[in-house]
Amino acid sequence: MARILTGIQSSGVPHLGNALGAIEPALERAQQAENECFYFIADLHSLTSLKEPALRRENVRAVAAAWMALGLDVERHYFYLQSDVPEVTELTWYLSCYTPYPMLANAHSFKDKQDQLEEVNAGLFTYPVLMAADILLYDAEEVPVGKDQKQHLEMTRDIAGAFNHQAGQELLTLPAPRIDDQVMTIPGIDGRKMSKSYGNTIDIFAPAKTLKKQVMRIVTDSRELEEPKDPDRCHVFALYAHLAEGPAINTMRERYQAGGYGYGHAKKELLRVIHERYGAARERYEALMAEPARIDTALERGAEKVRPIARATLERLRAALGFGSR
Ligand code: TRP
Repeated sequence: MARILTGIQSSGVPHLGNALGAIEPALERAQQAENECFYFIADLHSLTSLKEPALRRENVRAVAAAWMALGLDVERHYFYLQSDVPEVTELTWYLSCYTPYPMLANAHSFKDKQDQLEEVNAGLFTYPVLMAADILLYDAEEVPVGKDQKQHLEMTRDIAGAFNHQAGQELLTLPAPRIDDQVMTIPGIDGRKMSKSYGNTIDIFAPAKTLKKQVMRIVTDSRELEEPKDPDRCHVFALYAHLAEGPAINTMRERYQAGGYGYGHAKKELLRVIHERYGAARERYEALMAEPARIDTALERGAEKVRPIARATLERLRAALGFGSR
């Protein structure tokens, strides 16, 4: 049994790039019988930048609804909201006192902001410690993350190592990093990596009209309908190759090369497979968003399941650190 844990950013409705690059691989792990998954929404982390309470709540619900709609088994696994387990902030404090200042000052995520220090709050600076607490609170064994989080995981291991060393016992479990190096980069409609911040997303949970517009706006070259086209230099084809089955991909490839097949045709076919693949999830998503109490209940139950684990870890640490009267 491997205990797998990962944090989900609560930055709004997930798009196609999130679904293919992060959510679906995580759901695959959750389907393996030997895995026990802790997937939580990192809303405390969002406070480092997002200060608007209504937007935070809306984002959290949308992210939760998307994971549930795409098929996470919230009964078997642990799906919860970071802020529903405030124990994590207590652990953050303990770990802070084992985190050398230069380690945080050298974090890429902080260094990137060093020329705008007046905008850096202490929460952003200690972000990696909260992330370490997320992981160590539950004795996570494996933490699948993208390359951008690799350094944060190394910091988690270093902090846990320092803590264990000082305590003279293995109080904290060092997580094995699981960096998805071949993380698929899903192109957005302008060909750059699909990202909310570039405004180039395909929003699989958006109303059908919006979704269609986005697909129809994918940038292509200006080759005429009759001309042969190069599938390997086309974002429409690249997206199709992520979604369709092998034989269908080959068929589209041949049509591109033969000519007489326009980008409009390819976009229509892409839109069709998006609906085919995500139609049921879209319906579930809408039903959940129309009845957010179901989302909230699932998250509350998740928090109830993990809190005893969090409390047990803290008991163990408090005793070892000499806190409390016993
Ligand atoms: N920092 C991660 C990100 O930006 C999210 C995250 C928060 C996380 N806590 C975590 C990931 C713990 C893995 C484990 O994507």
